[in-house]
Amino acid sequence: MKRIEEKHPLAIRWFHWVNFPVLAVMIWSGLLIYWANDVYHLQLGFANVHLFPSWFYHPGYHEATNKGHALWDLDYRLAEGMAWHFLFFWLFAINGILYVSFLALSGQWRELAPSRSSVKQAVEVILHELHIRREVPAQGKYNGAQRIAYSTIILMGFGSLITGLAIYKPIQLAWLTSLLGGYETARFLHFWITMGYVAFFVIHILQVVRAGWNNFRSMVTGYILADEEAPLQ
Ligand code: HEM
Repeated sequence: MKRIEEKHPLAIRWFHWVNFPVLAVMIWSGLLIYWANDVYHLQLGFANVHLFPSWFYHPGYHEATNKGHALWDLDYRLAEGMAWHFLFFWLFAINGILYVSFLALSGQWRELAPSRSSVKQAVEVILHELHIRREVPAQGKYNGAQRIAYSTIILMGFGSLITGLAIYKPIQLAWLTSLLGGYETARFLHFWITMGYVAFFVIHILQVVRAGWNNFRSMVTGYILADEEAPLQ
C-alpha cells in the first residue's frame, strides 16, 4: 500500500522554480559580459588556450552570410548583457533572501543543513551509488550528500552576490572588494562560482532523473507517494 506524504512546502517549491530561470538568465548574461574580456586560460601542455574557444560565442557562424545562430550569439553584446545581469541580479538576490529566511523561520533548515553524520553518510551514499556498498544509506528528507550539496549551493549563492557587488561597485564598496582580496580575486571567485553552478546543475539533473518521476513530481505538487512502512524517500 502507498500513502501520500507532504514533502516540499509551497514556498520552497516557488523559490526553487523561480531560481531556475533567473539563474539561467544570470549565467547567460554573465557570458555576454565575460566575452568582452575573456581572461581565463587553460594550460594544455605547451599551449595556452582561452577557456572558451571562439566558436563557443557564435556556433553555426557562416562567414559567407556573416550570420550565426541568433539564439546563442554571445559576442558583441556587452551592454545588453550588463542590462540583463544588473536587472536579474535583484530577482536572484530577493528570491535567495526570501528562501533563506523561510528556511530559517520555518525550521526547514533542520532538514537541509549538514548534521554531524552527514559526511559519513555522504561517503556511504557515494559508495552505494558506485555499487561498492550494498546497504542503502539512511535517507530522511535529504541524505548526507544532498544536505552538503544543497547547503553548499546556498553558500555559493551568497558568494555570487558579494563577489558580484564587489566587482560591480569596486569604488563605492572598496571595503568589500579589498576584503575579498581585491578586484581580480573577486572576479575570479565570481566566475568560478558560476562554473560551480553549471557542474552542480549537471549532477543535480542526473540525480533527479535517477530518482524518478515520483521524486520530481514532489518538487512540483509538494506531495510524494511513499510505501506504507517506509519513511519519507
Ligand atoms: C530543470 C532544472 C531543475 C530540476 C528539474 C530540479 C529538480 C529538483 C528536485 C526534484 C528537487 C527535490 C530533490 C529531492 O526531493 O530529493 C530539487 C531540490 C533542490 N534543488 Fe533543484 N532542480 C533544478 C534546478 C536547480 C537549480 C538551477 C538549483 C540551484 C542552482 C537547484 C537547487 C536545488 C536545491 C537547493 C534543492 C533543495 C531545496 C530545499 O529543499 O530547500 N535546482 N531540485
